[in-house]
Amino acid sequence: MTAETERTNGSGPVPGGKGGALEGRTVALAVTGSIAAYKAVEVARLCIKEGAKVVPLMTSSATRFVGPVTLSGICGEAACLDMWDARFEGEMHVAIAERADVLVVVPATADVLARLAGGRADDLVTATALCARGPVLVAPAMHPNMWGHPAVQRNVDELRRQGRVRFVGPVDGPVASGESGMGRMAEPAAIVRAIEQSLGEVAPRDLAGKRVVVTAGPTYEALDPVRFLGNRSSGKMGFAIAARAAQRGARVVLVAGPVGLPTPDGVVRRDVESAEDMRRALAEELGASLDGADVLIMAAAIADFRPAEVHAAKIKKSSAEPSAIALVRNPDLLSEIGHARRGTSPVLVGFALETGDDASVVAYARQKLASKKVDLVVANAAHESLGHATNRVSIVAEGGAEAFFQADKNEVADRLLDRVSKRLRG
Ligand code: CTP
Repeated sequence: MTAETERTNGSGPVPGGKGGALEGRTVALAVTGSIAAYKAVEVARLCIKEGAKVVPLMTSSATRFVGPVTLSGICGEAACLDMWDARFEGEMHVAIAERADVLVVVPATADVLARLAGGRADDLVTATALCARGPVLVAPAMHPNMWGHPAVQRNVDELRRQGRVRFVGPVDGPVASGESGMGRMAEPAAIVRAIEQSLGEVAPRDLAGKRVVVTAGPTYEALDPVRFLGNRSSGKMGFAIAARAAQRGARVVLVAGPVGLPTPDGVVRRDVESAEDMRRALAEELGASLDGADVLIMAAAIADFRPAEVHAAKIKKSSAEPSAIALVRNPDLLSEIGHARRGTSPVLVGFALETGDDASVVAYARQKLASKKVDLVVANAAHESLGHATNRVSIVAEGGAEAFFQADKNEVADRLLDRVSKRLRG
């Protein structure tokens, strides 16, 4: 019996659930070779009931435990078994990874965990996992002796350390051999809940295809080869914006002043030191006609002044005591770009950290909006932001200022990107 005949005799694809928790989502369901493989069919059925489209994939050993026809019939599309399927044009693992919002490996054998931990791509399942753009979930299933083996635990630890693969189960309970212990696969309903949860944390892809340039951190303005004037900017706000923009599908370049933060996944980083370095980096990224980016977000705390003279050699305390350090003004990069822009692209965003009551914070932000010719200014109330885990901000545009809200940097990043995304859609 083929998937086709199964569908026509009435036991075919499960009708998708309208309004379900997975409506509009595509789940790539990868089945590997364990007795628990039969439960993958139930996972597929539950996902479809919740409104998901399920793309079934199977390793060759999985096909010895559950028939591809069963999965194809339930999912309403042929199970993908082989990277080298000549009927498929292009690269199958790339195409599946692109379609799927989440990849879930049910059951995940000790062997597939080892291959995922090692970054192998020697079959369709592991190659798709390496290419996945969304979360990758694994539901391990194996005999308790296997699960407890140091080699398996080392692979589990490695996957947890890499942070790219999440685990659902295993649980303590009876296993296929009749014994009981840690190694039983999580129940299908728990796996589906984990899929829903992982997708709930997934950002929308509303910035796909857009190029976003973000600046972050302080600048250091050299006094001599070892000393500089700088500020205490942590860079966290700009890094959070870069990370969220990349998660929302943008191609992101992060021009970072001197900070020790890790580069967010999927972000291209350019490290710079001074305001002048940042200016050069922006000129290269944006180009003369500013068409190198769709969006420029200036979260960097760029020094307004720099020492007038940079000493070529370290200033010795034996040298004549300086009574003052002469300073000169740095160019205002955002203002330069705002005044050079013709039309509405790139979308320009500035930051303003101000003291005073809400009305004066917004008034200063409005002044910046006009004087720098930008689209949005994130006004930060200094007294309720500096030294706090959260920031109190208002996003100010020509049309008006949003009510102040208190939020952590990731949420501020998301609220700002929501506004940017709206502007990009016109
Ligand atoms: N900025 C810039 N170039 C500078 C200084 C600041 O592009 N030389 C950008 C920052 O990245 C930020 C915004 O301009 O987006 C901050 O404006 P700024 O006028 O520097 O504000 P403050 O220094 O906070 O305030 P003020 O100088 O008005 O006291």
